[in-house]
Amino acid sequence: MDIQTIGIVGAGQMGNGIAHVMALAGYDVLLTDVSADALQAAIDTITGNLDRQVGRGKVAEADRDAALARIKTTQTLSDLGQSDLVIEAATERETVKQAIFEDLIPHLKPTTILTSNTSSISITRLASRTDRPEKFMGFHFMNPVPVMQLVELIRGIATDKETFAACQAVVDKLGKTAASAEDFPAFIVNRILMPMINEAVYTLYEGVGSVKSIDSSLKLGANHPMGPLELADFIGLDTCLAIMNVLHDGLADTKYRPCPLLTKYVEAGWLGRKTQRGFYDYRGEVPVPTR
Ligand SMILES: NC(=O)c1ccc[n+]([C@@H]2O[C@H](COP(=O)([O-])OP(=O)(O)OC[C@H]3O[C@@H](n4cnc5c(N)ncnc54)[C@H](O)[C@@H]3O)[C@@H](O)[C@H]2O)c1
Repeated sequence: MDIQTIGIVGAGQMGNGIAHVMALAGYDVLLTDVSADALQAAIDTITGNLDRQVGRGKVAEADRDAALARIKTTQTLSDLGQSDLVIEAATERETVKQAIFEDLIPHLKPTTILTSNTSSISITRLASRTDRPEKFMGFHFMNPVPVMQLVELIRGIATDKETFAACQAVVDKLGKTAASAEDFPAFIVNRILMPMINEAVYTLYEGVGSVKSIDSSLKLGANHPMGPLELADFIGLDTCLAIMNVLHDGLADTKYRPCPLLTKYVEAGWLGRKTQRGFYDYRGEVPVPTR
């Protein structure tokens, strides 16, 4: 199946990154959001990120201009009806995603492939409420999208071979690498990464190490580019907790129980970089551990 036009629902940090890489790879992009401010912020972010890539000699000026010209924005969801592929990257709430699919489906071509960038919601369950479970799958980018090489492609129970192959071809055209995952809670990356982050929080909670010593240990002792607590702050502690809850509920194994200290940080509203405080305090010149 030939994919030329890609509709993206949600213009937040993931949606703008997906629009950026798709346009740079030559796809026509239609980006929608309920918020006009989010659409404007997305275009500003994409422009800034492309300018930085031009500055570093990674993208030619003409390619930046062509990419920006390929991105159109709209606040009308039904405008995405003629897309060959839709990637839903709206807020991580099942009711939000379900309402988007319900509103969009009557306007779609029968051939349109429908996908979600969800980090944790069951692809099979989302697909079962659409008119095309065989043309539905998970298209899971990593943050920040223009930088990270991996895309997880997740089959729902009904996803057909042609749909998977078409999405794989898009990943190839982006110059990224796909990992194929079956639809089980948190897929591959977060199934492995989140329990490690949660264990780092337990290590802090039990007083085995300080924030600094835990992060240094994994950076210098396991060659990780970031420490687990630093990484948790980057991802967002609310997101980490939500994914641990999905693992705990979905796999019904106590080894996935979220650390009470992680819950406490989230209850305090200390969510990491986005709120200026998490395992580190980012309000000064340099990040300072909060424990
Ligand atoms: N942040 C990450 O590290 C990360 C990584 C991989 C996947 N994801 C997934 O990507 C998705 C988006 O995450 P994000 O971090 O970009 O969130 P975000 O909060 O930055 O952006 C979400 C956007 O969706 C918009 N939105 C909400 N309801 C909408 C609707 N009905 N129609 C259209 N737009 C709507 C919001 O206005 C907002 O601009 C989530 O499913 C998340 O799990 C996030």
